[in-house]
Amino acid sequence: MQADQLSREFHFTEDDFLIIKDLIYKRAGINLAISKRDMVYSRLSRRLRANKLRTFQQYLALLNDPKGDEQQEFVNSLTTNLTSFFREAHHFDILKEFLQDRKTPVKIWCCAASTGEEPYSIAMACAEHYQSFRPPVEIWASDLDTKVLAKAEKGIYSFDRVERLSDQRLKAFFFRGKGDNLGLVKVKSELQDMIRFFQLNLLDKRWPFNEQFDVIFCRNVMIYFDKPTQRNVLTNFLPHIKDDGLLFAGHSESFPQASDLFTLRRHTVYTKAR
Ligand SMILES: C[S@@+](CC[C@H](N)C(=O)[O-])C[C@H]1O[C@@H](n2cnc3c(N)ncnc32)[C@H](O)[C@@H]1O
Repeated sequence: MQADQLSREFHFTEDDFLIIKDLIYKRAGINLAISKRDMVYSRLSRRLRANKLRTFQQYLALLNDPKGDEQQEFVNSLTTNLTSFFREAHHFDILKEFLQDRKTPVKIWCCAASTGEEPYSIAMACAEHYQSFRPPVEIWASDLDTKVLAKAEKGIYSFDRVERLSDQRLKAFFFRGKGDNLGLVKVKSELQDMIRFFQLNLLDKRWPFNEQFDVIFCRNVMIYFDKPTQRNVLTNFLPHIKDDGLLFAGHSESFPQASDLFTLRRHTVYTKAR
């Protein structure tokens, strides 16, 4: 037995890791490197405890039960949801520029919305651009992870999540909690009304809509996918983005292998290839 196994609550073998790696790849496209083994152990140990199980074998058997709810919990446990308000701030300036003279209503899809900071930032940028709490914009916000979507819909955050925002934005778009809610903020309902949240797996062959969007935000999720999966997702975007629409990617994401599908226009901003 390896030294790290001795101090562990549950026995966790390389085979267990490889089965889990395969399952999450098939279910979510997430490509786990071997270096993520400890992270997988620690996140899934919580699921073993929650289900009162004693071994990873029992847990893997539970995942095979087609009637059980554990598959979604499994996916929720293995997604990485790091995000922040106005992350990669230059994208929001480019968005505002793009909105100039744009035919309305403008449709924007944020397809890895996590806990909501990104779609709310889009909503704030649109409200600022149109100087209105009812801008002619529809924002669709999806994610695979049901837990983060529930948090996003609530729109409640701890104050440290928003402390970098300007006083003007804080005042315009958030309520500050008092009493029991001290230390929390809630986004104003007008902002929430601009966004439609729903669950969607980017890996699904067909998505449940025929919309064509002016803008797709797909940031910091492709980084978890391998190149063939990235290409499949980009191919699936094509019918859902207007010819002159914009695709925003994350700061460390680039798609040179898919230059026949999308052309880089500015730093991490793409349009459909002609
Ligand atoms: C690191 S967060 C990025 C959040 C946000 N886009 C940003 O840039 O701040 C990645 C998000 O992608 C979601 N995700 C992972 N695999 C997915 C898939 N197959 N389909 C849809 N969303 C997925 C995760 O649940 C997570 O919330």
